[in-house]
Amino acid sequence: MPNDRVTQTAASHALSDAMAAAAAEIDQALDTLLPAEDGPEAPLYAAMRYATIGGGKRLRGFLVLEGARQFGVSRQAALRVASAIEMVHAYSLVHDDLPAMDNDDLRRGKPTVHKAFDEATAILAGDALQTHAFSVLAEEDTHPDPAVRVELIRMLARGAGPRGMCGGQMLDMLAEQATAALDEPAIGRLQTLKTGKLIEFSAEAGAVLGKAPLAQRHALLGYGRDLGAAFQIADDVLDATATAVETGKATGKDAAAGKATLVSLLGLERARLQAERLVAQAKDHLDGFGDKAGLLRILADFVIARRS
Ligand code: IPE
Ligand code: IPE
Ligand code: MG
Ligand code: MG
Ligand code: MG
Repeated sequence: MPNDRVTQTAASHALSDAMAAAAAEIDQALDTLLPAEDGPEAPLYAAMRYATIGGGKRLRGFLVLEGARQFGVSRQAALRVASAIEMVHAYSLVHDDLPAMDNDDLRRGKPTVHKAFDEATAILAGDALQTHAFSVLAEEDTHPDPAVRVELIRMLARGAGPRGMCGGQMLDMLAEQATAALDEPAIGRLQTLKTGKLIEFSAEAGAVLGKAPLAQRHALLGYGRDLGAAFQIADDVLDATATAVETGKATGKDAAAGKATLVSLLGLERARLQAERLVAQAKDHLDGFGDKAGLLRILADFVIARRS
C-alpha cells in the first residue's frame, strides 16, 4: 500500500473508533435522560426511546463532543448537549418519515416509528423528543451559567424552527409539487435550512459550552456550515447510488418523488465535486486549530466517503 493510503486508512480507523465510542456514550446518556416509564402513557416513552436509542451515526452528537473537547468542557455537560441535538434530530426523522411527508417504512435498519407504533404515537413522540431536548438544555447540569444555557436554547430553537430545519422541510415539500425545477441557489438554501442548521448548531455548541473566543466559535460555525452542505449532498448521492442494506433506509426514492437535489439538477458527478469542494472548505476553517482538531478534519472526509 502506498504511504498516503496507509495514513488514510489509519485516520479512518481512528475516526470510526472514536465515533463508535462516542455513540456508546451518547446511547448511555439518552438511556438515562429518556427512561422507560410504566403507566398509561408508556407507549409514548417507548416510541421516544425506539426513535433515539441504539441507532444512527451520531454525527451531530459527535460534533458536539469534539467541539467541546477543543475547549476542555466536561464530558458530562457535552453529553447532555449531544443528547439534546440527537433528540431533535431523531424527532425530525420521525416526522420526515410520516406518510404526509416522505412516507418511509424503514429507518436505521428497522421499521419507522409510525410503522412500529402508529401515526399518532409517532407525531407525539416527535413532539415530545423536541420539547424534552430543550428541558435537558435548560437544566443546571448542562452548564452552571444560565446565560450559556439560554444561548444554547436560542441556537437550537433557531436551528430547528422556521428559519432552520422546519423551514427547510417546508421548502422540500413545496419543491415536490413545483412545476419548475429549483435552481442551484434555491436548492442550496433549502438544504442549508433543512439539514445545515442543525449541523451548524452541533459544530458551534462546544464553543459556547467552553466560552471560547469568538473567532474560534465562528470558525467552528463555518466548518459546520460547509460540512452540513456536503453532508446533505452525500445523502442525496447515497439515495441515488446505495442500497437500503447499506443505509438502513429506503433508497432510490428522491428522483421518483421529484425531490429538489443537486443530484437531480447537476447529475451525480458534478454533485460529488461540489461536495468535495465543500469538504475542503470545511477543513480550511480549522486552520487555526491544532492537532486536537484532527478528528474533525477526518470527519469532513468521512461525510462524503461514507456508504451509510
Ligand atoms: C439523515 O441524517 C437525515 C439527513 C439530514 C440527511 P443522518 O444520516 O445523520 O441519520 P442518522 O442519524 O445517521 O440515522
Ligand atoms: C431529511 O432529509 C432532513 C430532515 C430534516 C429530517 P431527507 O428526507 O433526505 O432524509 P432521509 O434521506 O429521509 O434520511
Ligand atoms: Mg425528507
Ligand atoms: Mg426522508
Ligand atoms: Mg435523503
